[in-house]
Amino acid sequence: MINLFQPSLGQDELDEIKKVFDSNWIGKGRVVREFEEKFSKSLKTDAIHFLSTTSCTEAIYLSSDIFDFNCDDEIIVPSISFPSIGSAVVSKGAKIVFCDVDIRSLNVRAQDIEKHITTKTKAVFITHYGGVSCDMDDILCLCKENNIKVIEDSACAVRSFYKGKACGTIGDMGMWSFDAMKTLCTSDGGMIYIKDKALKDIAQEQLYLGLPAKQKSGVDSSSEGNASWWEFEINRPGRRAIMNDVTAAMGCAQLKKLETFISRRKEIYNKYYNSLIQLDWIDVPPIENYENESSYYFFLDTDRKKR
Ligand SMILES: Cc1ncc(COP(=O)(O)O)c(C=O)c1O
Repeated sequence: MINLFQPSLGQDELDEIKKVFDSNWIGKGRVVREFEEKFSKSLKTDAIHFLSTTSCTEAIYLSSDIFDFNCDDEIIVPSISFPSIGSAVVSKGAKIVFCDVDIRSLNVRAQDIEKHITTKTKAVFITHYGGVSCDMDDILCLCKENNIKVIEDSACAVRSFYKGKACGTIGDMGMWSFDAMKTLCTSDGGMIYIKDKALKDIAQEQLYLGLPAKQKSGVDSSSEGNASWWEFEINRPGRRAIMNDVTAAMGCAQLKKLETFISRRKEIYNKYYNSLIQLDWIDVPPIENYENESSYYFFLDTDRKKR
């Protein structure tokens, strides 16, 4: 039997969780910060742009807040994408404009997006489908010319790179999922990249009750180790969509093994490819030869050079 979407969890994760239990602090604290730092490092990007959260869906909703989607806006959404995107757009009264995707990679391309741009277009969501990156140069160039925000749904692209740059860190905002079916699993959880540091601070406050992103003491708004935790300043309305040290501990343990998980997926990809290519009646997606690295979440066509 081939098990799809089965997490690889075991003793390493339990050991890290035990350390958190032993510390007597299971809320958002040191381990969450450690996970954010290690995750950003694994993507070769500065930690100041990263924020952990409860799910990738929460991060997608957050994008509709921080970019202020409203009823005057049109948001371009790939016709094959995750339901949270459409829900976030309509929750703000903005109009969803569906956009075709490439027939084999199922990724959006600049030429598909271009057809739908109007003066009302505020943002485009792109999904790196199955962990294979979209062609970002053309998309970024088009969106820059038209002053459109680029939001990268990288839920399945936890360690995918486009020309050496991590998927999720190329546009204005990106998000990853660590739910029960993802390559890096924290049972539920998500990570966010926001390019603009000022917007990232606002986002941080919105995810945690509106508490100031930086306390006067310079520590973050986690109440761990804060002697006067009952004294709050509230900067803005906020939800409570933060990661905690228990799920972050799973994340730290999974991160150490991520490279191995992905190599194994690549090995299996190659095995399927080398067997399927023998059959002349089947149109097999060619092996990756593009200048990108996939996370091999799905078995997909990555050979865009041939078309
Ligand atoms: C492409 C894509 N985007 C977003 C999500 C939402 O992620 P989460 O379950 O963390 O909310 C998923 C989850 O499967 C997904 O596959």
